[in-house]
Amino acid sequence: MISASLNAASAAAPAPKAAIAARQAGYKKMGAAMKALNDQLKTGAPVKAKMVGAAQALAAAAREQPRLFPAGSGPTAGVPTDALPNIWTDRATFDGQMARLIAESGKLIAVVNGGNADAIRAQAKATGATCAACHRQFRADN
Ligand code: HEC
Repeated sequence: MISASLNAASAAAPAPKAAIAARQAGYKKMGAAMKALNDQLKTGAPVKAKMVGAAQALAAAAREQPRLFPAGSGPTAGVPTDALPNIWTDRATFDGQMARLIAESGKLIAVVNGGNADAIRAQAKATGATCAACHRQFRADN
């Protein structure tokens, strides 16, 4: 019973201000994870465990984001946010961009586990492209 109600609570969208804080924290985590991964790739001898950890952190944070854009958490929420209003008028496109990030970051874990540096580099780039594509369309200030 307890775990069932906890699951229900975590699936529900938080109130707008809490959602904004949580999604911004999630994006910061993603940014840090991308940097950690790319920093490893830049070294002559990347440490696989560190790259796996970064890819897992990235994918986990990505999976949290879809519920953190409830109605009312745009520019009218009363706290600073770079989320553009078109997120809520073009939700299907926005959700599609999110789904692409979740898919590419999931694939990144597998590729990192495979251990081929060139393949990891290519998949890190493909993942980063999903960030940039969404920011161009749905984020102010970039
Ligand atoms: C589906 C769209 C989407 C995708 C995909 C996406 N972002 Fe963002 N990102 C946003 C939006 C919208 C904001 C503004 C959030 C806010 O201010 O409420 C944002 C904000 C950010 C911020 C600033 C957070 C802060 O306020 O300090 C960082 C850093 C960031 N994103 C990194 C990333 C990285 C790295 C990726 C890919 C691994 C990524 N984002 C993928 C939409 C996206």
